[in-house]
Amino acid sequence: MPKKNKKALIFGITGQDGSYLAEYLAEKDYEVYGIIRRHSVAESQEARIDHLVSKGLVRTDYGDLLDSPSLYKLLALIKPDEIYNLGAQSHVRVSFDVPQFTLQTNMIGTLNLLEAYRSICPKAKFYQASSSEMFGNEIDEDGFQRETTAMKPVSPYGCSKLAAYCIVRNYRNSYNLFASNGILFNHESPRRGENFVTAKIARGAVSISKKLSSKLELGNMDASRDWGHSKDYVVAMHKILQHHEPDEFVISSKESHTVRDFCKEAFSCLGLNYEDYVVQNPKFMRPEELKELKGDSTKARKALNWEPEYNFKSLVKDMVDYWQREYDLKYD
Ligand code: NAP
Ligand code: GDD
Repeated sequence: MPKKNKKALIFGITGQDGSYLAEYLAEKDYEVYGIIRRHSVAESQEARIDHLVSKGLVRTDYGDLLDSPSLYKLLALIKPDEIYNLGAQSHVRVSFDVPQFTLQTNMIGTLNLLEAYRSICPKAKFYQASSSEMFGNEIDEDGFQRETTAMKPVSPYGCSKLAAYCIVRNYRNSYNLFASNGILFNHESPRRGENFVTAKIARGAVSISKKLSSKLELGNMDASRDWGHSKDYVVAMHKILQHHEPDEFVISSKESHTVRDFCKEAFSCLGLNYEDYVVQNPKFMRPEELKELKGDSTKARKALNWEPEYNFKSLVKDMVDYWQREYDLKYD
């Protein structure tokens, strides 16, 4: 890899955000390093970053948040200036099926990384991928969640992320580390995993429009989320680490839409009415649901000078357009 000004190490580089962050940092004069885990199907695991690895813009090494020796070894070898911890079991509904694994990865994994960080490279800056899922159903009187809103998570995933959030703050204060939490609200993109609701809807609507399927089964359509674009949100992650001091920042679009709204918009991009195709299947309901998220990102917008480029409509369109191109390549 060509020598550049700074080194960034990304945990979760094979995921949606990790891939966009790697792209963004590679363009910004960073040497970008990422951790990959052992997969049984190795052929597709770097699919989101293949274009960067093949150009020598990203180097990957095997490691795992649950394997402390690998973390110590990699930090000593790479000597990063910035560490981004995006590694997680990130699916909320699945966290009810694998609660112990979720807590181990998201909470103990973060602790393992913090321990290695404070021993090996305490001068580095550390970003923790915290989540609006930590708020649970707590909302301020004006209908928003912000940095000061109470956090009472309603899923094993939310609990794991809250524990990690707290331990990051604790390590910052105890050991004088530059360790920050980005409290990111939902963000999506063409690279979103297909079992998250937005990708499921965008893909399902395109498949129906091409007469490859006739219905789309969803769970709770009345839940509301504050949806932004992953490309915008990775810019905020980087800005959080360039701030003059470590802190907590909410990153959000400041708008909330229901799952039903997302369906309406996605199907209407294709000239269809979602009501003719979408059905509810209890299989996709959750044991406990987070009903509404709407984030107040005023603090980040002012302090970091961050503004998103995408809005709800352009996000949905980007995802639907992507799935149209994918289906055209596959079936035309
Ligand atoms: P994602 O697509 O599910 O990616 C998760 C990444 O974590 C993958 O690269 C995965 O690697 C890696 N990972 C899982 N377990 C690991 C372990 N034990 N050690 C090292 N890496 C591990 O998630 P995302 O949407 O990009 O989200 C990135 C982070 O932001 C996550 O921490 C998520 O919880 C958090 N977050 C996301 C959102 C959102 O709306 N997207 C909002 C708030 C917070 P494999 O490919 O090997 O599984
Ligand atoms: N996944 C999924 N599949 N969700 C569905 C479905 C379905 O078939 N039908 C309805 N939903 C509803 C869920 O019940 C939830 O209310 C909403 O759609 C969004 O679900 P997801 O897209 O799975 O995202 P999430 O909000 O649970 O979690 C995402 O956002 C968090 C930030 O708030 C993930 O990216 C987390 O990692 C992230 O922290």
